[in-house]
Amino acid sequence: MLLKAIILIGGPMKGTRFRPLSLETPKPLFPVAGFPIIHHHVEACAKVKGLKEVILIGFYQPNDSLNRFITQAQLQFKIQIRYLQEYTALGTAGGIYHFRDQILAGTPDYFFIMNADVCGDFPLEDMLEFHRVKPTGTFCTILGTEATRQQSLMYGCIVESKETHEIMHYVEKPETFISTIINCGIYLCSPTIFEPLEVEFKKNLEQNYNSDYLTAPCSEMIRMEQDIFVPLASSGKLYVYQTSKFWSQIKSAGAAIYANRHYLHLYKKSHPERLAKNGPGKPQVIGDVYIHPSAQVDETAVLGPNVTISKNCVLGEGVRVRESVILEGAVLQDHCCILDSIIGWNTQIGNWTRIEGTPNDPNPNKPFAKLEAIPTFTNDGKLNPSITVIGSDVQVPSEVIILNSIVLPNKELSGCYKNQIIL
Ligand code: GTP
Repeated sequence: MLLKAIILIGGPMKGTRFRPLSLETPKPLFPVAGFPIIHHHVEACAKVKGLKEVILIGFYQPNDSLNRFITQAQLQFKIQIRYLQEYTALGTAGGIYHFRDQILAGTPDYFFIMNADVCGDFPLEDMLEFHRVKPTGTFCTILGTEATRQQSLMYGCIVESKETHEIMHYVEKPETFISTIINCGIYLCSPTIFEPLEVEFKKNLEQNYNSDYLTAPCSEMIRMEQDIFVPLASSGKLYVYQTSKFWSQIKSAGAAIYANRHYLHLYKKSHPERLAKNGPGKPQVIGDVYIHPSAQVDETAVLGPNVTISKNCVLGEGVRVRESVILEGAVLQDHCCILDSIIGWNTQIGNWTRIEGTPNDPNPNKPFAKLEAIPTFTNDGKLNPSITVIGSDVQVPSEVIILNSIVLPNKELSGCYKNQIIL
């Protein structure tokens, strides 16, 4: 059997809720648990027998960081990886249709489509087993998971037939409650999915034929959820495979902390060697902690639970870090304390300074509790308490407190801040 996978990586206009972190690096390459978000996708793909190629589709200009990621991941996973660039944002299905010849080259039996902005313990093999025995002509299996009634309104909602798991009704971000089964943004498709994609493309062409050339929308712009899944519901061609394993979207910086915690937890089984251990001459480690081998961490530092220390970071005496991600090249001077925060690339935190955020995770101790999507601002325009994010190349002086704040890159702070966006 020949399989492929497509990862939809979006482009520079996407990922705005991830700022300021996405100002420095394309969001799909933001490191979670020590590795770029889509590294975890490729790793899951590489484990599936018969999966020979991963195609990244997006509208970023090809760039060094993307090229480096591809070269490194190809070597590590011994799988072919390519980037195909859309000429404009074609939506979540337009790029798939546009690059159909490349996707179908070598006649794959099935192909996965994965949104880049999700994380999880992806059950790809289980989806394959489920999809293969569905009636001939089935177009697609969607990975679904259970959310609360309130959460479901933010996602694609699925009503299934309990006996067959056929999708009977699909609504993207409904205004009122439809179902607690939500779309995880991971699909397994048969090549026949190109039939409805072609129908949609031709419909767009026809609609645009008589419109003004300058204002007509691009005919190749197709949204998988609204344009394909909605009309296909109850056609017998669309199924849902439900998982109860860890899954979450990564839309906000707060979600990156949540994803970090869960990927570190998965390492216990998948990569125990990546987790730091206690020992003489080493910092004290509590729970799951990843420390890049190049980081210099003083033995009196206390780290964890759920901490990632990236490449070339320097942590001085008595530093305390909990539930946080410290990005490449950051320097944490003696006795500073970092809680529920992300510290940007090459940022310096002074002695005895305290950086603290508020997790938007309702129950960090419940292993698979889903993340609440909390808006950045309250109805009266105030900043909702959130994790603290310090952008790249920021200088934070000694002996200050930064609480529930977002600091843009290249700042030199001079005092304490609480509940602020520092532009
Ligand atoms: P929002 O809540 O508005 O973000 O919507 P959503 O959760 O449904 O996500 P959206 O459909 O915007 O994106 C889902 C995934 O598809 C993300 O990984 C995006 O990066 C990717 N994506 C979105 N639009 C495009 C596009 O035009 N081209 C490509 N290649 N990828 C896209």
